[in-house]
Amino acid sequence: MALSEKETLAPPQHIAIIMDGNGRWAKQRGLPRTAGHAAGAESFRRIANYCRTLGVRYLTVYAFSTENWKRSQEEVAGIMKLLRKYLEEALRDMEKNRVCFRFFGDLSRLSPPLQKLCLDAQSRSADYDVQVNFCLNYGGRDEIVQAARRFAQQVANGERRPEELTENLFDQYLYSAGIPDPELVIRPSGEKRISNFLLWQSAYSEYVFMNVLWPDFTPEHLDEAIAEYHRRNRRFGGT
Ligand code: FPP
Repeated sequence: MALSEKETLAPPQHIAIIMDGNGRWAKQRGLPRTAGHAAGAESFRRIANYCRTLGVRYLTVYAFSTENWKRSQEEVAGIMKLLRKYLEEALRDMEKNRVCFRFFGDLSRLSPPLQKLCLDAQSRSADYDVQVNFCLNYGGRDEIVQAARRFAQQVANGERRPEELTENLFDQYLYSAGIPDPELVIRPSGEKRISNFLLWQSAYSEYVFMNVLWPDFTPEHLDEAIAEYHRRNRRFGGT
């Protein structure tokens, strides 16, 4: 049966975004980098709301990478503070917003209060429909190494055999276990790199690179990225 135009143009069910360009946005305005991250957090709120309006089921954002610890103490503290503030608000408004949270990354290096907020947000929102995955102290290679280590440990314990390992089984050891791979990965800010983001999960994703800094990213930019995704799918997709 042929798909109707509406079904053909349904948004991707999973969109992933590298929220890049906060520092440059601040520099252009003579502001400290933390002001750029604060504007980036506002942009995230706007886009997460818009994703919900569109019916996007999963939104995964790169909020803090394993490499981001190399930044100044002030900048790292600024980003952590924004995350804390956001999660406190999210916990307060949970019933109203009905967003489910997951965290990809090694949370053990975060401050204990932030870890607790992450765990509370995750456990209290488990049943909601729209899901935001925050990549926090996340690296794609690190995720794969941690997954391999856990599987190897189970083999050593006699719980698994090496020949049982398939791509599908390996998926279950990743932070993203149970979540479909993103169909679309967006990187604003003009950079054209993957930067260790969702290396395993984006094997078949469409990448859209855009010349807009993340704090300036609007719902119209998301529409544009989704339109580009549909154009490519129509040209190269199967029947
Ligand atoms: C990359 O831009 C962005 C980050 C390393 C941090 C992203 C964090 C946020 C948007 C705030 C997190 C909080 C919430 C609530 C989502 P950059 O600093 O590398 O920019 P540049 O390349 O222009 O310097």
